[in-house]
Amino acid sequence: MPIFSALGFAAALAAAPLPPADTLEQRIAACLSCHSVKERGDAYFPRIAGKPSGYLYNQLRHFRDGHRHYPMMTYMVGNLSDAYLREIADYFAAQHPPYPPPPPGSGSNAAAAQVARGEALVRQGDPLKNIPACVSCHGAALTGVEPAIPGLLGLPSDYINAQFGNWKNKSRRATAPDCMATIAARLSDSDVAAVSSWLSKQTPDAAARPAASIPLPLPIACGSLPPAGGAPAPAASSPGTAASAAAPAALAPSASPRGGAK
Ligand code: HEC
Ligand code: HEC
Repeated sequence: MPIFSALGFAAALAAAPLPPADTLEQRIAACLSCHSVKERGDAYFPRIAGKPSGYLYNQLRHFRDGHRHYPMMTYMVGNLSDAYLREIADYFAAQHPPYPPPPPGSGSNAAAAQVARGEALVRQGDPLKNIPACVSCHGAALTGVEPAIPGLLGLPSDYINAQFGNWKNKSRRATAPDCMATIAARLSDSDVAAVSSWLSKQTPDAAARPAASIPLPLPIACGSLPPAGGAPAPAASSPGTAASAAAPAALAPSASPRGGAK
């Protein structure tokens, strides 16, 4: 079947990661060599499937535009248009492969007290250090929130630690105000290790999905979120200029971290 063999050959070429491809299928095949579910045991590659599309889109742009740094990622998205990145983000956001169990090594060096400290930071934060509970933005089930807050489960501890390092040294930046950079600056290295050791030990529910919304205001404003967290502004929220309606609801800071009442 000469036609089929020619197609097979073309498909084999398309699956090769080089040179830069120009269809969605080709791009995604290349992405899966690092981002497929099976790779989690490799300890560093972050899961991207099922994260909110707006979050994925922001990250793809940030690699392209030099606000995040990882040479292979920059290479992968270097010449792609916003519209194309949006398409890729939508594709991965709609994928929900099962989560593998945490790899045996992940967070395994942590002492019990450290893991307990990590869980407390995630659920309650630390009012003395002005650290808000992670659940107050990432959702009670830590599955993220539409459209632009990622879930925190299924990430390797090394990856989480590296991201906090990147925020602290400003090599990872989001649209200002960059709430995660603010939070990272308040976490000591041992707090980061505590949080990542606890998070990486959790096995998410197979049916886990990002929450549709979260109670506002967030404890710290995040510039990466659309106005009012993407939800329609409540009709009664302001005496009503266009400018005030467009202001992010998250801009109203709340001094106390949430979730501390348990
Ligand atoms: C050579 C391996 C590799 C390939 C191929 C690759 N990635 Fe990545 N990707 C990574 C690594 C490693 C990171 C984390 C980098 C860091 O430390 O910030 C990452 C990060 C990301 C992130 C941010 C994840 C998050 O949770 O913030 C997204 C989104 C992403 N990649 C999408 C893609 C897409 C789409 C493709 C295909 C066009 C792709 N990647 C190809 C290795 C790869
Ligand atoms: C004020 C809201 C808010 C709080 C509180 C918060 N986060 Fe975030 N977090 C975000 C937003 C928004 C992003 C996406 C940032 C971006 O677009 O780069 C994010 C991203 C992240 C990421 C990146 C995930 C990835 O796949 O790369 C990690 C890790 C993370 N947060 C951990 C934490 C931890 C741990 C805590 C608690 C100590 C916490 N966050 C508290 C809003 C918050």
